[in-house]
Amino acid sequence: MHSNRVVVITGAAGGVGAALTHRFLSNGDTVIATDVNATALEELGDGAALDAKLIAAAADISTEADCARLTDVAREQAGRVDVLVNCAGWLPAIPFEQLAPEKWRRVIDINLTGSYLTSRAFLPLMKERGWGRIINFGSGSVFDGTPSHAHYVAAKAGVVGFSRSLAREVGDYGITVNVIAPGLTVTEPVRRNFPAAVLAAQRSSRALKRDEEPEDLVGPVFFLASPDAGFITGQTINVDGGKFMT
Ligand SMILES: NC(=O)c1ccc[n+]([C@@H]2O[C@H](COP(=O)([O-])OP(=O)(O)OC[C@H]3O[C@@H](n4cnc5c(N)ncnc54)[C@H](O)[C@@H]3O)[C@@H](O)[C@H]2O)c1
Repeated sequence: MHSNRVVVITGAAGGVGAALTHRFLSNGDTVIATDVNATALEELGDGAALDAKLIAAAADISTEADCARLTDVAREQAGRVDVLVNCAGWLPAIPFEQLAPEKWRRVIDINLTGSYLTSRAFLPLMKERGWGRIINFGSGSVFDGTPSHAHYVAAKAGVVGFSRSLAREVGDYGITVNVIAPGLTVTEPVRRNFPAAVLAAQRSSRALKRDEEPEDLVGPVFFLASPDAGFITGQTINVDGGKFMT
């Protein structure tokens, strides 16, 4: 099952999600691309033949109702789900003493609860076929506890624990669950919001001293989604140019 899969990608209109969407479409897979940003989602297609296999469905993955609706979309328009990539995320930098409870909850809802809700929504479809791949996005910030990100780091550490536990529960159904932990990746919002000095410091902290690009994350996700990765589960794979060697 190396092409013709049905792949759900959350946060598909974001920097990494868009790169992933194009890679799976180019491989001949069907992609159910979902994002809360409906306008950006509309711009995802490139007008080419590949768009025929692109199913765009706007949804807020932090709500049960929207996740249930996505399950209906998958059943009705694709008939199954083979791969779920939880790429949606939100990382507002807020110093802890200014962090209001509603911001804490929203960040946990999007970055952690969202992965739970989508896994819950699509697991039955994977179980039916006895094959599935769940790939969740963590973050390298878990390893150094980036300041002003306590809410985000807590959520992403939660993603690691959640993925390990779920991996043990669903192994008997032929489903694997893994985490990709990116380093600071130069997407448009990162380029806009992070000073050049921060990017320079990131580069020098790596064994491979260059910026991390969204495309750097595509190959590892693609591999975890493939039969070649069939005996890998419950793992966190750092894709950060060798910043952390844990
Ligand atoms: N870019 C980085 O430096 C970096 C570093 C470590 C981890 N990550 C993680 O990698 C993943 C991809 O990040 P990115 O750089 O592409 O970010 P991005 O901000 O470019 O994209 C994230 C996407 O998620 C969507 N989203 C936010 N809330 C949502 C919700 N409730 N429901 C559905 N969609 C929602 C946004 O609209 C956006 O399109 C995220 O999980 C992020 O936390 C990114």
